[in-house]
Amino acid sequence: MTSVDTNRQPATELTFPTGFRWGTATAAYQVEGAAAEDGRSPSIWDTFSRTPGKVRNGDTGDTAADHYHRMSEDVALMKDLGVTDYRFSISWPRVQPTGRGPAAQRGLDFYRRLVDELRHAGIRPVATLYHWDLPHELQHGDPGGGWMRRETADRFAEYAGIVAEAIGDRVDTWTTLNEPWCAAFLGYAEGVHAPGLTEPASALRAAHHLNLAHGHAVRVLRSALPDTAEISLTLNLYAVRPHTTSEVDRDAARRIDALGNRIFLDPVFHRSLPQDLVADTAALTDWSFVQDGDLDVTSTPIDSLGINYYAPTVVAAGSHETPSPWPGAERHVRFVPPQGPRTAMDWPVDSGGLHELLVRLRDELPTTPLLITENGAAYDDYADPEGDVHDPERIAYLRSHLTAVHRALAEGVNVRGYFVWSLLDNFEWAFGYGKRFGIVHVDFASQRRTPKDSAWWYANVIARNALSD
Ligand code: NOJ
Repeated sequence: MTSVDTNRQPATELTFPTGFRWGTATAAYQVEGAAAEDGRSPSIWDTFSRTPGKVRNGDTGDTAADHYHRMSEDVALMKDLGVTDYRFSISWPRVQPTGRGPAAQRGLDFYRRLVDELRHAGIRPVATLYHWDLPHELQHGDPGGGWMRRETADRFAEYAGIVAEAIGDRVDTWTTLNEPWCAAFLGYAEGVHAPGLTEPASALRAAHHLNLAHGHAVRVLRSALPDTAEISLTLNLYAVRPHTTSEVDRDAARRIDALGNRIFLDPVFHRSLPQDLVADTAALTDWSFVQDGDLDVTSTPIDSLGINYYAPTVVAAGSHETPSPWPGAERHVRFVPPQGPRTAMDWPVDSGGLHELLVRLRDELPTTPLLITENGAAYDDYADPEGDVHDPERIAYLRSHLTAVHRALAEGVNVRGYFVWSLLDNFEWAFGYGKRFGIVHVDFASQRRTPKDSAWWYANVIARNALSD
């Protein structure tokens, strides 16, 4: 393995604050595999990925990166890289197979071992309770309905209690939900994620029930955990830019800001609903799924906000020819294809959007510390004949985004840490294994791990707590 050269003296360094958290991130369904082991039941993603045509190449998470069996090796790898924190998610159907009733102790044992190994390696565990793998029964059983159903929020609170009891004393930071926007809108409106529905009004209900689930879980965690536990929520917030300064383009940006950002920020931080979104979607729903007292629950105080950022969004006024699947945006918004360099996902490389977002959050939520819980890029990486994986584009991507974080820090944004997505190449949802986000390459046939150049580059940043030339 390449060693970390901490002796090279660069011309200039951008130093990060002492104690800055340097992490990597993964999610259960994307890396664990072992889909039918130790009592685990299917999640909606098992069901969805087994449905022909839903995931490229027919890929499923059955084996994924086999992390369930290779967890010790993966923790050792992180120790070699020097990461201070590891963000992982807990598979709900592994620890409470049908989403109701008793816990599966063997499933919980995996997470007990994981947090113990992390702590032994000096790495702080950051646990996400929900990264999209809802127990199949809660969606497709009787009663089902998944996040369209209010009761799912209560089930989530119960599940949070089970996990808190099992590993609550050993986890430093808790995240209730990962990217509830994707769970609600890609899952229930666009249908490209599980459960694959195309019902825009259901997506709005789902979003509210996810907010409610978050609030309930915060209350459960707060009462079950030590005072030192940090409780958080991770959102994929959008840096939304109007294509031009015209009034119609600015209105398109307002609509996407309401649907993408304020639908979560307002109930969670301001105890309110975005009234413009309620008006924009009046033809679809009267929002009566929001009951008295719900906003008190959704706005239960949290300790920090996690942000996942990949690329900015540029929008213009829409037309009848190009309707979008998003409620309230339909014929009013058109997504403008980005210019300039793109990643293998075809997403633009634009770190300015991250800076914009951080400054906005400093102004809107001045007392809330921020964690960048995901940032990274997919490229078509491969091992060369020597077995090395050279990924200069990923290094450039990470460098420019960390530079943006550093600039935001200098401008008074309270960013406490940064997590690369992802530690490992993994199951990239509807794209399957074809998109590689890891700083560690995985040969899925042999499950061999090879740190890419970016992994050693990142190790060097961590060792110096600084970004150098
Ligand atoms: C956000 C999601 O949380 C993660 O699961 C996904 O793989 C990355 N974005 C990249 O698309």
